[in-house]
Amino acid sequence: MAVSQTNLAWATLLDVGPAARGRRRLHDRLAHALRTAIRDGRLAEGAAVPPSRALAEELGCSRWVVTEAYGQLVAEGFLAARVGSATRVSWSPDTAPSPRIPRTRTPPPVRYDLAPGLPDLRAFPRRRWADAVRAVTGSAVDYDLGLPDPAGHAVLRTTVAQYLRRSRGADAHAASVFVCAGVTDGLVRTCRALRAEGIADVAVEDPGWGRLRDAATSAGLRVHPVPVDDDGLRVDDLARTPARAVIVGAAHQFPTGTVLSPARRARLVRWAREVAGFVIEDDYDAEFRYDHHPVAVMQGMDPGRVVLLGSVSKTLSPALGLGWLVAPAVLTPALRAANLVAAAPPVLDQLALATFIDRGWYDAHLRAARRRFRSRRDLLVATLGARVPEGRVAGTAAGLHIVLHLPDGTATRAAVRAAAAAGLRLADLDDYRAPPARSAGRALVLGYGNISDPEIAPAVALLRDALRSGSAETP
Ligand SMILES: Cc1ncc(COP(=O)(O)O)c(C=O)c1O
Repeated sequence: MAVSQTNLAWATLLDVGPAARGRRRLHDRLAHALRTAIRDGRLAEGAAVPPSRALAEELGCSRWVVTEAYGQLVAEGFLAARVGSATRVSWSPDTAPSPRIPRTRTPPPVRYDLAPGLPDLRAFPRRRWADAVRAVTGSAVDYDLGLPDPAGHAVLRTTVAQYLRRSRGADAHAASVFVCAGVTDGLVRTCRALRAEGIADVAVEDPGWGRLRDAATSAGLRVHPVPVDDDGLRVDDLARTPARAVIVGAAHQFPTGTVLSPARRARLVRWAREVAGFVIEDDYDAEFRYDHHPVAVMQGMDPGRVVLLGSVSKTLSPALGLGWLVAPAVLTPALRAANLVAAAPPVLDQLALATFIDRGWYDAHLRAARRRFRSRRDLLVATLGARVPEGRVAGTAAGLHIVLHLPDGTATRAAVRAAAAAGLRLADLDDYRAPPARSAGRALVLGYGNISDPEIAPAVALLRDALRSGSAETP
């Protein structure tokens, strides 16, 4: 029997056309198609199926075929028929857990976020960003809409180079700047280029941001964790590894918040020269310094040995996926080759960022953000002093997070769990240690980027309760 294709939606959904025929009878095939659509959620619970006469007409079959199929599914519990009302789907995939797919537990909702990572998303400059996007959509020349340069649009490369020279003391020029999707993406590209240059081992800070370790590993490098102390990365320990490259947060180490001391900076550059290697500088949140002692990038000390990575993830939003890397000339050919296999961020977004910076909006946004974060940091530190007096706060001079050191014996892991159950997101400093993790003390990493000022007091009260209940629990 021919199946009418007049109602494409039902005919397609139920797929009882020639390809699905096989040897089964039509009402069995229709029942099978309906059952499958209900099981995989295409027909949701509560949805009405068409009246039998209408569906029969649309499928080009007899009404009997449809009533038989419906009757079969009513008997199986997939459909429910009520006199005087439409026949409806009475089953949903969620109510029937498959034995093969374990159900994931929904985490408790986050009421307060004191974990590090995000800037103030409420303060994203929506209006000006939209203005920038509108402006470049109107002004981009046709050529800009063609194949993008994998190294980034020349306009943004020029703008970023100027910005980094004036605000970070970098030695940057349009030719040495590559546009990428953020620090992580820039690191993957750099590691691919290093691999092509014969470098197979890279050192990372311990503790450090795990995603950077993963990015280096994904690019095929062996990763060597090197400890960090109050002066930053321990360069003597680095020199004992086989690494010829190192990823370092010189201006504001994550998560300890230390600044690489001037002696260590000099020693690190000497090390890179001695091993003919590279320092990869993660300048992720250096725009936020509150103590009037700006720390310039290391890249300015030796642009031939330092790769500089930065992004707008901490200043505007990680959702924009826009960043840069400034590369030594010797790595440029390998980076260009590495860039060819990585997608450049969308050109109109690149041009929008260039406009946003060139019109002074980025500087204005950073000035306002710096003021807001400084006063929020002060509020957080004061609230912690009053409510968690046993804690010692460190790493307050810069960035969007601080470290709260707690007395020996504090069960920080249990406290993080207790806080999560109460709707407060926290991070344990131990979570940032490279495996096998060695706990070097009790500390929490508290981010204040994405929490509002009025939320700080209730969040810290929950933190204090979590520390108490965490101590009662076995760690
Ligand atoms: C240490 C560190 N580096 C860099 C970044 C930014 O990474 P991306 O630019 O890939 O978003 C972050 C963001 O959380 C970070 O914590």
